[in-house]
Amino acid sequence: TGKFTYDPGFLSTASCQSAITYIDGDKGELLYRGYPIEQLATNCDFLDTCYLLLKGELPNEQQQKDFHKLVNNHTMVNEQMQFFLRGFRRDAHPMAVMTGLVGGLSAFYHDSTDINNPQHREIAAIRLIAKMPTLVAMAYKYSIGQPYIYPKNDLSYAGNFMRMMFATPCADYEPNDVLVRAMDRIFILHADHEQNASTSTVRLCGSSGTNPFAAIAAGVACLWGPAHGGANEAALNMLEEIQRNGGVEKIGEFINQVKDKTSSVKLMGFGHRVYKNYDPRAKLMRETCHEVLGALGLENDPLFKLAMALEKIALEDEYFVARKLYPNVDFYSGIVQRAIGIPVSLFTAIFALARTVGWIAQLNEMIADPEYKIGRPRQLYVGAPRRDVPPIQQR
Ligand code: CMC
Repeated sequence: TGKFTYDPGFLSTASCQSAITYIDGDKGELLYRGYPIEQLATNCDFLDTCYLLLKGELPNEQQQKDFHKLVNNHTMVNEQMQFFLRGFRRDAHPMAVMTGLVGGLSAFYHDSTDINNPQHREIAAIRLIAKMPTLVAMAYKYSIGQPYIYPKNDLSYAGNFMRMMFATPCADYEPNDVLVRAMDRIFILHADHEQNASTSTVRLCGSSGTNPFAAIAAGVACLWGPAHGGANEAALNMLEEIQRNGGVEKIGEFINQVKDKTSSVKLMGFGHRVYKNYDPRAKLMRETCHEVLGALGLENDPLFKLAMALEKIALEDEYFVARKLYPNVDFYSGIVQRAIGIPVSLFTAIFALARTVGWIAQLNEMIADPEYKIGRPRQLYVGAPRRDVPPIQQR
């Protein structure tokens, strides 16, 4: 068994070569196709970012127009998807619903299911990016018993999503620029993050030659976990619980619980496998948090104050300093989403919506690589040596 390197959790194994996203964990730097996340989050919108991740370059004016039009042409979902959605209990977790709906797309779009056909992959990519907001909004409307709102394609990507979420047949939703920009920024910050658990899942799943929708559904399933995309939901639940138990006064007690190795309590929204410095996405999200709360007149939001106090105390605490634990993107994104009016249970579905483009870009990169093979990790066997099956009376 000495033939294979044992590396649980892939701490030191590069599973692929990639030209999409670069992270310098020590510096706290994140680049998409070479461009710093701070510049993209300030000067570009989410669809520009999608174009960049998929094609390697930012769009020029004409390409930008054409790409927006192309995506907008695909925002509707087959009407029969509604029947599929209705099969779920209304109180189903949105990520359970999304895992089903995204996988279900493969049953509707037969002209984009052959992962080895570049044209199929291209249409699948556009369909997935275009339909994710529609599906997430449909799942939300279904859960609250309201009629679905169809996409309105002269709006921006984020504006359209917010309208599908918050408009009703009785009252249209007037997108507020600051909130739409915040939503768009959340999408940009979550668009890709190299070989994280869900992206590696999508690559592994796609490497078997399955169809692109199925591979992305696998990514959605993996993202759901609280150590990954589910952390935004867990972080907000944690803040609300501290708030209920006494707020800022109780931070010290809570931190002691986190530091107690006999408890399983973690400071959610803190720590990262790659970042051993401040997550640049968390900095941008904190800035957005200020903007959104300011625009809504919620500067004194107790949860935001609590989060800032918690961050300050943790960053000065020896436990967090020694382990290089800093806030990650999920620490502040929940507060922003909550202020926008997104229910906590939908946070991870929104992460999935945004990460879809990264998953597809990574999938395309893998399939286009002439050296690509089915992913097939090896193992070190530690079970029983060869033995004979005893007769049942002797077991
Ligand atoms: N709270 C308390 N202790 C922590 C935390 C935390 N959030 N994160 C790591 N540690 C401790 C951990 O217990 C370990 O301590 P010791 O050396 O004494 O055993 C040390 O720090 C190293 O941690 P690790 O678990 O070996 O690190 P990892 O790279 O395996 O895990 C992580 C990374 C993100 C899963 C982990 O930091 C974590 O669970 N954080 C909370 C969940 C979270 O916010 N996840 C979102 C990640 S960013 C968005 C995304 O990728 O989806």
